[in-house]
Amino acid sequence: MSTGASEVFDAKEFVAESIETLKSTIDDIAIIACSGGVDSTVAAVIANQAVGNLLHCVYVDTGFMRKGETEQIEALLAEQGIKNLVTVKAADRYFEALQGVTEPEQKRKVIGELFIRIFEDEQKKCGAKYLVQGTIAPDWIESGGGVRDTIKSHHNVGGLPEDMTLEVVEPLRDLYKDEVRELARHLEINVAERQPFPGPGLAVRTLGELTPARVAVVREACAIVEEEFEHAAAEGTMELPWQYFAALLPVRSVGVHGDVRAYGETIVVRAVQSMDGMSARYSEIPHAVLQKISTKITNTVKGAVNRVVYDITHKPPGTIEWE
Ligand code: XMP
Repeated sequence: MSTGASEVFDAKEFVAESIETLKSTIDDIAIIACSGGVDSTVAAVIANQAVGNLLHCVYVDTGFMRKGETEQIEALLAEQGIKNLVTVKAADRYFEALQGVTEPEQKRKVIGELFIRIFEDEQKKCGAKYLVQGTIAPDWIESGGGVRDTIKSHHNVGGLPEDMTLEVVEPLRDLYKDEVRELARHLEINVAERQPFPGPGLAVRTLGELTPARVAVVREACAIVEEEFEHAAAEGTMELPWQYFAALLPVRSVGVHGDVRAYGETIVVRAVQSMDGMSARYSEIPHAVLQKISTKITNTVKGAVNRVVYDITHKPPGTIEWE
């Protein structure tokens, strides 16, 4: 646990040391996997400061990103002075590879492998020898590093195939989330206060079959949860949770639309307080806010969703995400 680590963590010193290490490690073209999240953006900015002339930044639009996210990420990276940015539109490839895959670990493995394959394609195009990643400590600890059991194969770890030809460089490997956020503030990256988002994106928030239509429902529901919580927090009705989102469950239930029986999908709203994602407590949300979210979701994604539930499980025994 890194509770209180920010008191002793020196962001300036860490950046200076990382730049030196990256300069002495990377002697050829490097690709950085940038998802626009805090971790990969910090890794990209530090790598750019160290070896910007060798760095190729690749953003993969998997089709599992949040509403408007691709455009925001492209703008953010440009703002940070990253010049060599390639956006790979890969949604079709992901949906095809994930056809019929519903088991969470299998899903993560398929996503991780395709992610690496796409980078290999990009590597061939630019001749990169290194892959820089924004992996942080909880990613590999929870993926079964050392003596721990595998809880989840995190995107950047469990999916790595054995025949991978790129050399992996992970400058943030020993850091916890609060330290990465401190780095982001130090580097003046404005994603510092943004809530965490899993590498496999909305794919792990769409339980059961992954189709463009079901993922679109989750995207819309997540946007509603974010909007309503942020609005209520700005008004002082509630404290903004550490992480808050919606997931689509593989459960259908009977409801009514007008006079007609409907057999619709179920959305679960999840909101937690946490220091670093390693443990978490579910957030107590005012009923009025949950009610508004429920009405908005069932109205907006009419016909698809007819039930909204709220998750009151701490971590442990639950995890923050549902897959
Ligand atoms: P869990 O669900 O394991 O999540 O309690 C802990 C924190 O990690 C995020 N998460 C991920 N982050 N790649 C990531 O970079 C992943 O595959 C991944 N899975 C979960 C999750 O959103 C939470 O903040």
